[in-house]
Formats: sequence, C-alpha cells, structure tokens
Amino acid sequence: MQHIDHIRLSPDGEKLVILDQSLLPGSVRYIELTTAEEMYEAIKSLRVRGAPAIGIFAGFAMYVLSRSMSRGSHGEFAREFFEVSAYLNSSRPTAVNLSWALRRMERVVSEGAGLAADALENRLLAEAQAILDEDIGMCARISEHGLSLLKPGDGVLTHCNAGPMATSRYGTAIGPLILGAERGIKLRAFADETRPLLQGARLTSYELQNAGVDVTLICDNMASVVMKNGWVQFCFVGCDRVAANGDTANKIGTSGVAILAKHYGIPFYVLGPTSTIDLNCPSGDRIEIEQRDGEEIRSMWYTRPMAPAGVRCYNPAFDVTDHTLISGIITEKGICRPPYTESLAKLFK
Ligand code: MRU
Repeated sequence: MQHIDHIRLSPDGEKLVILDQSLLPGSVRYIELTTAEEMYEAIKSLRVRGAPAIGIFAGFAMYVLSRSMSRGSHGEFAREFFEVSAYLNSSRPTAVNLSWALRRMERVVSEGAGLAADALENRLLAEAQAILDEDIGMCARISEHGLSLLKPGDGVLTHCNAGPMATSRYGTAIGPLILGAERGIKLRAFADETRPLLQGARLTSYELQNAGVDVTLICDNMASVVMKNGWVQFCFVGCDRVAANGDTANKIGTSGVAILAKHYGIPFYVLGPTSTIDLNCPSGDRIEIEQRDGEEIRSMWYTRPMAPAGVRCYNPAFDVTDHTLISGIITEKGICRPPYTESLAKLFK
C-alpha cells in the first residue's frame, strides 16, 4: 500500500503540514499551520481527525509552537507551553489521545528544567517523533491480530474511519483489511457512510479502494440489511476512549451497529492502541461527549438545505458502546476479552 504522509513537519521545522481531510476525496490538499489558533481550528474542523492522528498532530504541534515561545527562563517557557497545551486540549473532548500526547510533551518540559533551550527543543522533537513511531508499530500489530480472526471471503462491516488517515499507517479497524489485501487475502468490506460528517463515505471507502480492498459503501441505516443477508461475519470499529470497564466511545452510530450485531449473532470488535485506553475513566458514563453544530445535519454537504432553517438539531459526535456488546478489544498487545476490568488492567502491568 502506498503510505499517505498526512502529518509532517516542513523541512525547516517551522510549520506543521497536514493533509486537509475535510476536503477529501474531491481534493487532495496539504495546508501549512504555524499558529496555535490555526492548529486548534484544524482539530475542531476535522482537517485532522481520528483519535491517534490527533495525538500525533498534537505532539508535532507543540514542538512547532515551542520554537517561538519565550526563552527567558525555563519557568517562563514552561508556563507558556502548558497554557498553549491546555488550549489545544480544549479543541475536542472525547478522544483521550489528544490529552495523552499533550501530557507526554508537557512531561518533557517538566523534566527538562536543567536543559539548554536547544537541547529541550531536540527532546520535544524526539518525543513527537516517538509518538508517531510508536503508533506506526501499534497499528501494524493491531492489524496482524485483527487479520488472525478473518478467513478468506469474510465480510467486515466498519463504521466511521479508523484507517491510515485516522492514525499513522494501516489504521486500526480497517488495518486488517488493508494488510489482508497486501497478502492477497480476499476479504469484503462494508463501509457505513457515517452521517453527519461522512467519514465512512469520504475517507474509509477512499482508503480501502486505494488499498485494493473489495469495498461496498452503504448508508448507516442499511447495516441491518447487509447483516441479515449474511454478508457480514465481523464488525470492526475504532475507538476514541475506552473506559476501564470496556465501555467504548466511538463515532456516533457505533453503539447502534453493536446492538444490531448482537441481534444477528455477529462478533463485534473494537480495535485501538493502548493510548486510547483510559483506565482513569471507570465507565462510559464518565466520558465527555462532544456536541457539534446543528448545521452539520441541516445543510452541510447539500447543494441546498434539506431541513427548515433554524430547526433544532441534536448532534453528538460520539456514542458509547456498552462493554456487554463487545466481543473483544484488539490492541497492539493482543485481544482482550471480558471481563474487561481485568483484561484491560493487565495490559498496563
Ligand atoms: O470525529 P472523528 O472523525 O475524529 O471520529 C473518528 C472516530 O470515531 C474513529 O473511529 C476513532 O477516532 C478511531 S481512529 C483509529
């Protein structure tokens, strides 16, 4: 598969360059970001999106921004660094990878009090690079574990986009399909279009097509039909935050897929790196769910509005799938099975 370099530094390290995912698949455009406000906006507007990708982005963003911060004293630098970090962290609340990556960058600053400015800058760059490199490795291993469940001819239904653009390479939920295609294993994918922002239609079907996977795009409300037809043997989805008991926040609509899967007896798996597991969060009802603008439902994507102007909309970006509906949680360390309070805790021992 040709790797898409969707988050990178400019050669002089002064800018963060990203593929603007909000324009895909119609337009493949890279944009350059230099200010904290531009970076906040890029996350908020889903120019960069997907839990692990937001974490990777945050690491490099803090490196770029740190280069223009006050060099007076370490205390002054650290104060500004933590302030900017908190600002970026407030852009989207649900995916834990954002705060996880920012905390890693903050730790470098806290521990670097005795370092010269250049040395601290190099450490920050190394940490951002480590977040990216680790994610590449984690996605590869998750894809291997996921693929080990599949046999040729299987159909896999996925929701939203947990592919290379949402991570580093391969992705999580669709990583096994991409890896399978690389190895000549014939699998079939069903991609929910994923209203209201169409990550499934715009990104998942684009990535799977490019990887040579047999993909069929369906509207969200068609999932039960393809399951009933016997075309789906597994559901694979990504995650934005997995609580200690296995409750999982992912794109709105995921829990509906899990409920349907249970009805039809189809195994439902969550795939994600350990960076998305939040053991400090005991259960799904403690996960903050991002609410987004109703215009995304009322008028976005339509050539003319398809709802009365001003009609009230409810637009949560994520929902929580109850752990009882999840057959397994596939991480880079293997497949966790219920009871998740035990199997997830073991991952961090
Ligand atoms: O709003 P988005 O597009 O950032 O939501 C993305 C998802 O819900 C993904 O499934 C999740 O982040 C996992 S990405 C590996």
